Amino acid sequence: MKAAVSTILLAAAVRAVPAPAANIDTNTLLPFSIPNVFNLIPRTSEINKKREGWLYGTFPFGVAPYPTGKLADKKIAEDEAIWKPPVFELGAIIQNETQQAVEAVIAAGNFSTLDDYHKVYTNLWQTSLPSGPLPGMLTNHTDDRTFSMMRLSSVPFRIHRVKVDDSLLFPVDEEISKSITGHTLEELHAQGRLFAEDFEEMKDQETTTAYGAGCQAYFYIDDAGDFLPLAIRLVVKGREDSALVYTPKDIRDEWLFAKMTINANDGWHSTWGHTTMSHSAAEAPYLAAIRTLSESHPVMALLNRSKRFNHFLSPSLDDHANFEWIVENTPWGIRPNLQDSLVNGSMDTGPKYYPWSADAARAWANKVYSSGETANYTSNMFYNSLRRRGLIDYEHGPALKSFPFYEDGAVLMSAFEEVFMSFVNSYYKNDKAVAHDREIQAWLRETVPAQVHDFPKQIQTKKDLVGILSHQAYLGSVVHAIMSGNGNQLDIMALPFTAAGWQSPIPTKKGVITDIMEWMPTPEGAAWQVATYAAGNRASWKDTEMTLAYMFEDEELQRRMNAPTRAAMAKFKNDMFALSDKWRARGFDENGLDRGMPYIWNVLDPKWAIYWSVV
Ligand SMILES: *[C@@H]1O[C@H](CO)[C@@H](O)[C@H](O)[C@H]1NC(C)=O
Ligand SMILES: *[C@@H]1O[C@H](CO)[C@@H](O)[C@H](O)[C@H]1NC(C)=O
Ligand SMILES: *[C@@H]1O[C@H](CO)[C@@H](O)[C@H](O)[C@H]1NC(C)=O
Ligand SMILES: *[C@@H]1O[C@H](CO)[C@@H](O)[C@H](O)[C@H]1NC(C)=O
Ligand SMILES: *[C@@H]1O[C@H](CO)[C@@H](O)[C@H](O)[C@H]1NC(C)=O
Ligand SMILES: *[C@@H]1O[C@H](CO)[C@@H](O)[C@H](O)[C@H]1NC(C)=O
Ligand SMILES: [Fe+2]
Repeated sequence: MKAAVSTILLAAAVRAVPAPAANIDTNTLLPFSIPNVFNLIPRTSEINKKREGWLYGTFPFGVAPYPTGKLADKKIAEDEAIWKPPVFELGAIIQNETQQAVEAVIAAGNFSTLDDYHKVYTNLWQTSLPSGPLPGMLTNHTDDRTFSMMRLSSVPFRIHRVKVDDSLLFPVDEEISKSITGHTLEELHAQGRLFAEDFEEMKDQETTTAYGAGCQAYFYIDDAGDFLPLAIRLVVKGREDSALVYTPKDIRDEWLFAKMTINANDGWHSTWGHTTMSHSAAEAPYLAAIRTLSESHPVMALLNRSKRFNHFLSPSLDDHANFEWIVENTPWGIRPNLQDSLVNGSMDTGPKYYPWSADAARAWANKVYSSGETANYTSNMFYNSLRRRGLIDYEHGPALKSFPFYEDGAVLMSAFEEVFMSFVNSYYKNDKAVAHDREIQAWLRETVPAQVHDFPKQIQTKKDLVGILSHQAYLGSVVHAIMSGNGNQLDIMALPFTAAGWQSPIPTKKGVITDIMEWMPTPEGAAWQVATYAAGNRASWKDTEMTLAYMFEDEELQRRMNAPTRAAMAKFKNDMFALSDKWRARGFDENGLDRGMPYIWNVLDPKWAIYWSVV
């Protein structure tokens, strides 16, 4: 009853205060503020107008609700005018660079071995991918540690420990397991040293003329504490009962073939999974926020990151033009872009090179979204996800000796938490003030009709709010950088260690793959793969204000925030600069490794990773 009384008092108080002019220009000069007695009426009226103009709709690509309505349509059209030209411009450049790459490979004598695939990168893609794959990827791909450690860095989202109560995916011959690990599969399982990845569901997707399988794999922690692969099972539709299991004891090219076949599964998971795990998972609560938070709310300001920047697609453009775009976060661009690519084939999603069709990509993305795997908000929070999968804090088995994704991610998570904690502390006196923020509480309620999966059940404390803001920042920067940004094109989807699909069928018996080249893409196929992934890369944004270090570097944003928040944002940027310097000093040690990896994984470098989910 107390709440009702105070609301009436509030309304009375508000009536005595002249409403600020509804002029947008005036509003953009005012400091951000949380709801209070005085702004109830103007803000309620502003929010109601927004709610009328931002409605829930659907989009042909599927997944989360897509905004529709007068205001939404206008904003989407404005955004499109911003994201389309550079995307098309980059596309034209890539087309040119693709032709150059095919010609260069042929001029250099085509491919005869896997090592020859460096030819499709070296001195090519000057604009779209000038530095090629991560250091070590072109030279150390046959090393088993490259394969296993990628699961703890480049593709960390499906790997999990086989917990003591979990069942096994498939059996491995006892003698073979012992000769590799010194133990049987059951012993490794009982000791909490067994890990798995399961992509079997991919075998059922609509196929193309290329070949693939839905793979399952085991990894283990050896007696020295290293994380290594044990076995891979290649499952082909219709041949499930005779699925072959490969291990490091198989002939060289056959074991390599098995590793590369599951790499293609993980690459598909990153490519299509990122559209929902980074984009849609963040878009759904954002749309709920638009419908409930005033544009003057400081939380809304953080969610709606917009900035002015110099968009240099290439040094050559730099020479004759100073392109200045005002880029919003353009979150609503990704699905139209994907849909166009799928329907019109402008991105050529196949059918020649991926084993699965464009329709399969869309169907699979919707499946992992609706299952909660990629859509779940709370269970996908950084620590929750790792803990749930037994990768950290697991009591029945040893800890991972080196876990680069966790180590780098944790540093960034605490930087996010620090800046958001300063922010929340400066706007809210105490937990009660958070619980009493009527707009934040409306946002929480709105996540139900907004169909946000697994959103936190309450926002009662400062910590609750910090957790949500940190996760939102994590989805847009860390998850996107790994699954799309600088990540997949430079590691999991880089040649020669991953071919998007095979050019010959998956064998029905052992001993037939004596030369893997029969399965590998031609120069045209290799160039197609580089081009497809280069389109998602923003090589020219390295060291620019588009990077994570500049997440809060925006004049208007900072001007309208309070002084403690401005200070926290400045500290964040300084910390990120120092972190970047530190991470850039990484290199191969005397064993040719960096943190146990035969390649340098610097994908989260704060002056390289982009801070937002790029269209
Ligand atoms: C394509 O590449 C060639 C050779 O580098 C260059 O001369 C030409 O201007 C490029 N065209 C476009 C559209 O980028
Ligand atoms: C390159 O080699 C592959 C495999 O031998 C062959 O199929 C292809 O036709 C060759 N391409 C050219 C342009 O020689
Ligand atoms: C987000 O910020 C931009 C730029 O300031 C503004 O045009 C837009 O109205 C804001 N709100 C939404 C919901 O996009
Ligand atoms: C895809 O095709 C539709 C219908 O022809 C067209 O309106 C749209 O602009 C096309 N998109 C692209 C990216 O070409
Ligand atoms: C997603 O979250 C719901 C609870 O909100 C849970 O029941 C479900 O198991 C989660 N799914 C996954 C794949 O984690
Ligand atoms: C990995 O490759 C780099 C150079 O590309 C080399 O210096 C290093 O020794 C290699 N590491 C291993 C373990 O082979
Ligand atoms: Fe993206």
